[in-house]
Amino acid sequence: MDKNNITILKIGGSVITDKSADDGAARVDEIKRIASEIAGFDGKLIIVHGAGSFGHPQVKRFDLTGKFDHTGSIITHMSVRKLNTMVVEALNSAGVNALPVHPMACTVSNNSRIESMFLEQIKKMLENDFVPVLHGDMVMDSELGTSVLSGDQIVPYLAIQMKASRIGIGSAEEGVLDNKGEVIPNISNENFEIIKEYLGGSANTDVTGGMLGKVLELLNLSEQSSSTSYIFNAGNSGNISDFLKGKNIGTAISGVKI
Ligand SMILES: Nc1ncnc2c1ncn2[C@@H]1O[C@H](COP(=O)(O)OP(=O)(O)OP(=O)(O)O)[C@@H](O)[C@H]1O
Ligand SMILES: [Mg+2]
Repeated sequence: MDKNNITILKIGGSVITDKSADDGAARVDEIKRIASEIAGFDGKLIIVHGAGSFGHPQVKRFDLTGKFDHTGSIITHMSVRKLNTMVVEALNSAGVNALPVHPMACTVSNNSRIESMFLEQIKKMLENDFVPVLHGDMVMDSELGTSVLSGDQIVPYLAIQMKASRIGIGSAEEGVLDNKGEVIPNISNENFEIIKEYLGGSANTDVTGGMLGKVLELLNLSEQSSSTSYIFNAGNSGNISDFLKGKNIGTAISGVKI
């Protein structure tokens, strides 16, 4: 693989936190395991992690998808920052030169969609062999005051802006599952209407659309670029390192039938 190719990996909050908790509960061992799998990768990498119980319950508690609230925005942002610090520290302990990038500090959304994100520091980090670590966050919003920004939206945005060549979203299921619980190998615009009925939100609190939200974001990405992205289980030991090695696992999402 060309050393200048950029890989974007999302680690689901469903894997690194206990999403059934009402308030931030980290899965420290999972964070450590994932950090050591990432440490085996030699290439340009951007990590985005989800908020899990450090973000979704807080957004719900303060009704932040329904109304603007100073206290709720601050509490939620400070909480996801805590999780981000844990992830960045674990990556550094494993030997990855990881640095935090907080969307609240570099992004403005419009009606919950990213309007602009300052990317210069991310570009410089990659040039200098750092691994930027972004996360689901509260961000300023030109219509709403603040809004929730899902990690699932950050991934396709960065994929386009940074011309990433490999995109993966690791979550807590083997891939996108059908009504029998089997992994759907490929999703494209051609079969989306049929499989749409199998896609739901989250089993736990998730304010950003769970699996359906993820698939819609990645289908939208495949329409805007020719990229294929993968949804796989980051909770299985070895899957992240397999994905980073170039193995295609889970469900592939692409614009054309593959
Ligand atoms: N067809 C489906 N296939 C797989 N998972 C599905 C499906 N429909 C709904 N889900 C749910 O989607 C969940 C994954 O989405 P969820 O938003 O909870 O995780 P995440 O995005 O990894 O976490 P976070 O948003 O904190 O980053 C699964 O755990 C499952 O409960
Ligand atoms: Mg989610």
